[in-house]
Amino acid sequence: MWDYTDKVLDHFHNPRNVGKIETPDGIGQVGALACGDALTLMFKLDKDGRIGEVKFQTFGCASAIASSSALTEMVKGMTIEEAKKITNKDIADFLGGLPEQKMHCSVMGREALEAAIHNYETGETTVYSISDDPVICHCFDIHESEIVQVIRDNKLTTVEQVTNFCKAGGACGNCIDDIQAIIDKILAESKPLPVPAERPMTQIQKIKKIEEIVEREIRPILKRDGGDLELIDVRGDQVVIAFRGICAGCSSAHVTRSSLVEAKLREFVLPTLSVVEEKDV
Ligand code: FES
Repeated sequence: MWDYTDKVLDHFHNPRNVGKIETPDGIGQVGALACGDALTLMFKLDKDGRIGEVKFQTFGCASAIASSSALTEMVKGMTIEEAKKITNKDIADFLGGLPEQKMHCSVMGREALEAAIHNYETGETTVYSISDDPVICHCFDIHESEIVQVIRDNKLTTVEQVTNFCKAGGACGNCIDDIQAIIDKILAESKPLPVPAERPMTQIQKIKKIEEIVEREIRPILKRDGGDLELIDVRGDQVVIAFRGICAGCSSAHVTRSSLVEAKLREFVLPTLSVVEEKDV
């Protein structure tokens, strides 16, 4: 028994908008009885160009009926442009989710809507042109663009998921390599570009940055108490300083050196820097 949400069960037991429209503005048919699922969706626009009436007839399981019913509720009142943006994930979300093995029902809903809109806009009854959109899965007559769309809309990464979402690959299995190739191509496209390795700072850049941080972050604190420091040298990652003013003879100068000067330089310049006093080198 599938773990259906209450909303799926409600739309299955009380499907909305079942039936036919005698003179629809758009009609889309997807699936085939031979494949176990078939859906016909039709709509009529109102005087404002919005979907005023929408009906469906479906043959399929509980989730196919619930997905079709949910879709009709979702599109009612939408413009064509708004309806075009509906994805199968939106349908599944509207129902509070579907078992992954049943996601193909939400895909069938989205495809029927796409076909109905295509029919409204062009008068054609088929969305796919064989020449630029090859059939990948011949058992279920599924075109490449459908597979690409379910992978992208649902961020799928395995052939098994693709089968769950659109049935492709679920019969003879001859198309599995082709589906895998499509997945690999999409995953490769979505991989973030490698971040170029950061070039190490040159010694001059390092000295300039140290001077800037001393001026901005360290000197004002020392000066508040009548102290100061002088930058004597930078040797690799070793920064040589000399305290001036009240800091010069202070017994806590070593604490100021490590917890203020060194800490700030490590935070803002390089974590590998160390700070020593001139008198100690
Ligand atoms: S061609 Fe796809 S399952 Fe047979």
